[in-house]
Amino acid sequence: MAARDSKSSHPSRDDHQGLAVSLTAVSKTYRSGVGESVNAVDAVTLDIPPGQSLAITGRSGSGKSTLLHLIGAMDVPDEGQITIDGADIARLRDSERAALRRRIGFVFQRFHLLPALTALDNVLAPVIPYRTDFDKVTRARDLLGAVGLADRVKHLPSQLSGGEQQRVAIARALINHPGIVLADEPTGNLDTHTGAEIVAVLDRLRTERGLTLLVATHDASIAASCDRTLVLSDGRIVSDSD
Ligand SMILES: Nc1ncnc2c1ncn2[C@@H]1O[C@H](COP(=O)(O)OP(=O)(O)OP(=O)(O)O)[C@@H](O)[C@H]1O
Ligand SMILES: [Mg+2]
Repeated sequence: MAARDSKSSHPSRDDHQGLAVSLTAVSKTYRSGVGESVNAVDAVTLDIPPGQSLAITGRSGSGKSTLLHLIGAMDVPDEGQITIDGADIARLRDSERAALRRRIGFVFQRFHLLPALTALDNVLAPVIPYRTDFDKVTRARDLLGAVGLADRVKHLPSQLSGGEQQRVAIARALINHPGIVLADEPTGNLDTHTGAEIVAVLDRLRTERGLTLLVATHDASIAASCDRTLVLSDGRIVSDSD
């Protein structure tokens, strides 16, 4: 693994911007057929302070991904209110919601890298072309250095291991200076050792940058490394270590 680029991966002041998340009686029901419905998220009330790392656990189908999608404004609740940094996301104009989404980084189980793009271009992909308020190529290189991939910048995803691909995905999630990172089973496709390395990278970046980190996981060791653990069952919080 490449040595971390300690000179340029130093977080800038605007990287210290973890956002608070608050949910009040949030519900999401999926209707799949006549009379069939699933309360994927059921009356969830939750306050997450800026900079906290929160593990969301619970068996398959308990609502972890749905909860992350709602918080990431990728899906809309049927009931309840979600505020991020004090703003009710349902009340935002489209342009404001788009701006908020750029302050949320996503990391997925299956990496979702673009296969024809190099690691560097994958990290740059979420940056809107006319954005000029930071040097995006320097930042992308710095982030690849920060995840230990300074010597893999020009590699295609097919030339990288699973753990390396997930590191690229983490760098990509951080390119727009997010305040929150949402990770949905980020180690689900990795062996235990590689998964532990990915968790360590996520946790280091979170601490350095003051990010709020929400991780849906089946992995007890990830949950143990977080500040707080929720257990969901049938869309409800049945345990909260806070
Ligand atoms: N788009 C959808 N349409 C219909 N039902 C859905 C949809 N997405 C999720 N569900 C249902 O909502 C419930 C919660 O699903 P969700 O994906 O949030 O669970 P999960 O905890 O992430 O599970 P896993 O650990 O398997 O990823 C499940 O019963 C699921 O079948
Ligand atoms: Mg899921």
